[in-house]
Amino acid sequence: MLERYGHGGDLTTAAEAYGRQEDEFVDFSSNMNPLGPPEAVRRELVRYAERIAAYPDPAVRRLRAKLAARYGISEEAILAGNGAAELIDLAVRAFRPGTVALPMPSFGEYADAVRKAGGRIIPVPLRPESDFTLDERAFAEAESASSADMLFIGSPNNPTGRLADPSLILKLAERGGIVIVDEAFIDFVPDEERYTLIREAAVRPNLFVIRSMTKFYAVPGIRLGYMVGSPAGLDRLRGLQIPWSVNSLAQRIGEAVLDDAAFAAETHRWLQREKPRLAGKLKQLGMHVYPSDANYLLARLPEAEGLTAASLQREMGRRGVLIRDASRFDGLDGRYCRFAVKLREHNDRLAAALGECLRLFL
Ligand SMILES: Cc1ncc(COP(=O)(O)O)c(C=O)c1O
Repeated sequence: MLERYGHGGDLTTAAEAYGRQEDEFVDFSSNMNPLGPPEAVRRELVRYAERIAAYPDPAVRRLRAKLAARYGISEEAILAGNGAAELIDLAVRAFRPGTVALPMPSFGEYADAVRKAGGRIIPVPLRPESDFTLDERAFAEAESASSADMLFIGSPNNPTGRLADPSLILKLAERGGIVIVDEAFIDFVPDEERYTLIREAAVRPNLFVIRSMTKFYAVPGIRLGYMVGSPAGLDRLRGLQIPWSVNSLAQRIGEAVLDDAAFAAETHRWLQREKPRLAGKLKQLGMHVYPSDANYLLARLPEAEGLTAASLQREMGRRGVLIRDASRFDGLDGRYCRFAVKLREHNDRLAAALGECLRLFL
């Protein structure tokens, strides 16, 4: 089971499970931008050797100033963190919600953070029949979700890839509870500006947006994310954060990659080409592929004796191809898989290996 520690992209577990070296796998189980990291990362790494002997800026000022300028918001409305993961955890610990409404399926760290802090989860089921769309009906159907102290919304949601309607989120925020929007994958959406709630979060007391810089820039090893919200709310998180939580390499890399507009444009062109092509190949193999606004696809396997996401993952892993067993997300059954979109040659290798493995069952 590749998700032993709750996530995809665990090459150490894969190497142990399938008896190969970590660099022998093609990894579709975590959703990194295959065009990255951008060139600027290599430059910063070389320079870093001379800077490692100094402490990082504890307030992450230069990166926050850059982000503030990009979105036209105040620097005081931005808190940097050790990956979006740290900010999810801090948000729950800082606001201590008694009840938290969580769309299901969604990123497992929301529920883990709530459990660690002793809160109660109110599930908001998303339905495959409606392509996992988060709509008002989903909330109306979930008992007491609308009166929860806190609500997490992934936009795009993981593992479904669906964006949430910003006007629905604002409506939910009007109810007064704390709303945390996780936009970890929104940079992959070409018209991000239409969907991001960063500017709204900067001026509202109870709306917060979490962003990750690890996926779009393919630097999960350095851990970097940020949260936008009211300065008073962010102060509560800062009060629980470990000093120098964002190391100096992450800060430098964050500043450098934000300047690379060509990398962003190339990423959007690649995704526009490869996502529909990969979705078409998965459909040809008999899978049901759900619509996705992100750089990954959720698919349901055809029905066949013994064919589950877990058995398919095992067969694929033996062939050096890692896929995500999405049945491990609450709200999905044993036939759901998630695939990152990668470079064409890798996508073709995925499709070929899937074809070979599916033939064992069909
Ligand atoms: C939806 C979502 N949010 C946040 C994160 C955490 O991102 P980071 O690497 O910035 O901690 C992930 C990682 O997989 C994710 O899928």
